[in-house]
Amino acid sequence: FLLVLVPKSGFAQGSKIDQLLFSTLIESKAYIDKGKVADYIPELSKANKNLVGVALVDSLGNLHTKGDTKSKFTMQSISKVIALMLAVEERGEKYVFERMGYYGTDKPFNSFEALEYRHKPLNPMMNAGAIVTTALIKGKDDEAYKKILERVRYITKNEDININEAVYQSEKETGNRNRGMFYLLKNFGLFDAENEESLNNYFRQCSIEVNAEDLAKIGYFFAHNGTRFDGDKTFYNPEISKLIKSIMLTAGMYDYSGEYSSKIGIPSKSGVGGGIMASVPGKIGIGTFNPSLDEQGNSVPGLYIMEKLSKELNLSIF
Ligand code: DON
Repeated sequence: FLLVLVPKSGFAQGSKIDQLLFSTLIESKAYIDKGKVADYIPELSKANKNLVGVALVDSLGNLHTKGDTKSKFTMQSISKVIALMLAVEERGEKYVFERMGYYGTDKPFNSFEALEYRHKPLNPMMNAGAIVTTALIKGKDDEAYKKILERVRYITKNEDININEAVYQSEKETGNRNRGMFYLLKNFGLFDAENEESLNNYFRQCSIEVNAEDLAKIGYFFAHNGTRFDGDKTFYNPEISKLIKSIMLTAGMYDYSGEYSSKIGIPSKSGVGGGIMASVPGKIGIGTFNPSLDEQGNSVPGLYIMEKLSKELNLSIF
């Protein structure tokens, strides 16, 4: 009879978390009209503003979902975390961070102001840093991208994850600001990419399509030092996980990171596709999706969901 008392989920009351996710999802919909869908890349502007999803992988690896958690969207900047993991695995933290900083920023994600006086990016979460990070992953042509894709598939245990070819083409066609930065960074000698395929890999990784459930699983993976939600430890690495969570906290939400850290206090990464991936150290992973963005490029309903869950479940690390 004692077995009956053992909770099935990582939370003492499994249904309570589902109730909370449901009410939070409903409340978050009031914020849809407070933001707008990214339109600086034409293909992104086609996103449906009304889709909202929240997924949570609890401390035992069980998935809880509410809303549109199967809807696909592109990872965008969330892919920068996976690229960083691979670059540090292959080159070591010292080598990577001789080529970029650990700084936060008060500038937008595509700013290159700091390059003028530092001659290297502020951090690996801004575009400039992410372009360098991806260029440091070894391999010719699209091999770096393929490694990123494979790692995302591994962490989520989802082989259906693929590139959105239309978004990729759109990023590539309109990405002249990133292209300019790529050549400036190359001029600084931060990497020795032979051609633009390295920059294309950055566009490709941004165009990988996932859903909110995948993001919750990625959050869990880093929360548990590289342990997959099913317990697999192939890429277990506490050092890299610690590094990634700290960088997410200081720079994962761009120029909103400081306020986010104070209000929500969870290492997180957003993307202009509308996703937020959050990693509560030693505990849970959260993924949210809604493409209505604020000025800084963060999903407005997503931020509401994160703030609510952080408060109700006492998830702030501070
Ligand atoms: O580099 C770009 O323009 C986009 N692919 C950036 C991705 C992103 O999510 C940045 N900000 N939120």
